[in-house]
Amino acid sequence: MNLLEGKTIAMTGGGGGLGLCYGLAMAKAGAAIAVSDINLGAAQATADAIIKAGGRAIAVKSDVTQAAAFEQLFDRAEAEFGPLDVLLNIAGMFPRVALVDMTEETWDAVITLNLKSVYLGARAAVRRMLPRKRGIVLSTASGTGIRGQPKGSAYSASKAGIIGFTRAVSLELKDTGVRINCFGPGATDTPLWRVGKSEEDIKRLLAAGNVYQPDDFSNVVVFLASDLSAPLNGEFISRDLHR
Ligand SMILES: NC(=O)c1ccc[n+]([C@@H]2O[C@H](COP(=O)([O-])OP(=O)(O)OC[C@H]3O[C@@H](n4cnc5c(N)ncnc54)[C@H](O)[C@@H]3O)[C@@H](O)[C@H]2O)c1
Repeated sequence: MNLLEGKTIAMTGGGGGLGLCYGLAMAKAGAAIAVSDINLGAAQATADAIIKAGGRAIAVKSDVTQAAAFEQLFDRAEAEFGPLDVLLNIAGMFPRVALVDMTEETWDAVITLNLKSVYLGARAAVRRMLPRKRGIVLSTASGTGIRGQPKGSAYSASKAGIIGFTRAVSLELKDTGVRINCFGPGATDTPLWRVGKSEEDIKRLLAAGNVYQPDDFSNVVVFLASDLSAPLNGEFISRDLHR
């Protein structure tokens, strides 16, 4: 069963470690993907991998801290593949900085990229989806938003913010046919996870089995992007709270 047959999906941060795996999995399930990233080369690499695997994709350069980027991304996606069915927000950053060293610039950068982009993207997507009475906004939160993590005050606040934002918007979307959910894929070996860790730490954590591989959560994302997840609205689906 192709769970995402005929769906148009726009994905931010699609050139990253998780974006590549989620893009491939969603395309395999039948979706056409507009892969966006601030790094066009990285977005293109994901789009190329999808096309090489027999799927449909385009690459779009977007800076998701800018509202206009979402209009451009959705216009491209819709011109190429038809009405937007799913927005998957993945773009994010995690500079590991203790509170006492946290500059306002770093704080603002993390909150703007991780949280404000989700608001900007969701607003633009929901405006298009409401008149069609269908669509899904999915965002990458993190169990860190609930648990916290040392040197992660801005990151944890941004991810907790995504969960609260998702719950609030889901109440506005009740019975509209449009849904919003978020998920936490668990600590996963990607460039973002490696930031601030020594080679020794990385080896130790991988050996201890406390870290997932980027593809491990892909089928959950496919499910959340599909109509099978219809009962879910306003949920935070996480596994790193349940180890
Ligand atoms: N890797 C983990 O352990 C983990 C765990 C939980 C949640 N997450 C979340 O998953 C998401 C993706 O993480 P990842 O591990 O794939 O990271 P990654 O660093 O591999 O990918 C992030 C991508 O976002 C892009 N990006 C950065 N700034 C951007 C901007 N202004 N506009 C558009 N794109 C921009 C980067 O170019 C990169 O391709 C993040 O939101 C992260 O917080 C990751």
